[in-house]
Amino acid sequence: MIIAIDGPAGAGKGTLARRLAKAFDLAYLDTGLLYRAVGMHVVEMGSDPADPAAAIHAARHLELASLDSPRLRDEIAADAASKVAAIPDVRDALLAFQRDFAGNPPSPYKGAVLDGRDIGTVVCPHADLKLFVTATADERARRRTLELQAKGIDAIQDRILADMLARDERDRDRKVAPLASAKDAIVLDTTELDADMVFDRAVAHLRQVLERNAG
Ligand code: CDP
Repeated sequence: MIIAIDGPAGAGKGTLARRLAKAFDLAYLDTGLLYRAVGMHVVEMGSDPADPAAAIHAARHLELASLDSPRLRDEIAADAASKVAAIPDVRDALLAFQRDFAGNPPSPYKGAVLDGRDIGTVVCPHADLKLFVTATADERARRRTLELQAKGIDAIQDRILADMLARDERDRDRKVAPLASAKDAIVLDTTELDADMVFDRAVAHLRQVLERNAG
């Protein structure tokens, strides 16, 4: 069982992915963290995340242990992530790990949930269930601001909104694996839905897939 969840920043992909993984006993991979770790590594080396040579080197030498750093959650990491993510060789360097995680999830799991921007389109085009989770930009910025503030990070909603719109545009307009809903994805607009409602809808779709697979 592979579940692919894509969508723009702050739409609730991570919350949904974690809850589905827990409820259905699946491994979870937040693929954004890979790009964040590569981006932060480049920034910490004093280089520009848009510089292909520095970013490709960081992606090819990514240490999975570095994914635990709390710094990866802030907006500096998000911005750097979306810059390295536009470089085709960076995406290539991270692809095998993501596909391997989906195809051979860590024991004892027998399936996986991956969230990101290109899971349904590129990483796992044969996923059993593809969800494209979205919401209005204002609502996404509101949620992200609360999320950061809850972690004790200073966040101003207007700033977050501006950063998010810039990042969405970069993600949608890049030439390789742009943010897009797969043709066979189910679109969940979460603007008016709370986390429980989003989860319930996703579960209803997942049950249909499980019934289809069983029958
Ligand atoms: O949590 P949020 O949705 O804000 O961001 P994220 O999922 O951690 O992703 C950070 C950035 O990494 C995105 O803006 C994308 O540029 C990039 N990314 C990507 O290109 N492909 C993925 N599968 C996941 C993230």
